[in-house]
Amino acid sequence: MLSKTMAKAISQQITKEFYSAYLYLGMGSYFESETLPGFANWMRIQAQEESAHAMIFFNYLANQGHRADLGAIEAPPQEYSSPLDVFKKTLAHEREVTKSVYHLMEIAVGEKDFATQKFLDWFITEQVEEEANANTLIGKLERIKNSSEGLFMIDNELKTRVFTLPAPLATGA
Ligand code: FEO
Repeated sequence: MLSKTMAKAISQQITKEFYSAYLYLGMGSYFESETLPGFANWMRIQAQEESAHAMIFFNYLANQGHRADLGAIEAPPQEYSSPLDVFKKTLAHEREVTKSVYHLMEIAVGEKDFATQKFLDWFITEQVEEEANANTLIGKLERIKNSSEGLFMIDNELKTRVFTLPAPLATGA
C-alpha cells in the first residue's frame, strides 16, 4: 500500500524519466545533424532506457492499485556547442535524477515503506552506472581534445551500443 505522498512523488518521477528520454532524443538529434551516427545511436538507446525507467515506475504504481498522475513534458534544448558540452549536460542531468531518486528513498524510509525502498534499490544502483557512463565519455572527449580522428574513433565505438530491457521490466516486476 502506497501513501498518497509516495504515489504523487512516483508520478512526478515518471514525468522526469520521460523528460530524460526527450532530452536524450534531442541530443541524438543534435548528433544526427553533426553527422555523428555513433553518438546519435548512443543517445537513441539512452532515450529508450529512460522510457523504460518511466515504465518501471508506472508499472509499480499500477501494481499497487494507483493511477499515475502524468504531468506535462517540457521541450528539451536543441542546441549544443560540442559533444563534450552534450556529455557535461548529460552528467549534470543524471546528478539531478540521482537526487530525485534519493528524495523518493527519503520518503519511503520516512514512511517505513519497505516495499518501495526495495523497489528503489535498483534505481539507486542504476544511477551510479548512469553517472559513470557520462563521466567516462567526458574523460574520452577531453583526452582527444579537438582531434577529428579521435572523435571518429569514439563515434565508431558508440555505434555498437544496443538496447537491453532493464531487469525490472524483463522480469515483469
Ligand atoms: Fe532514468 Fe538516466 O536515469
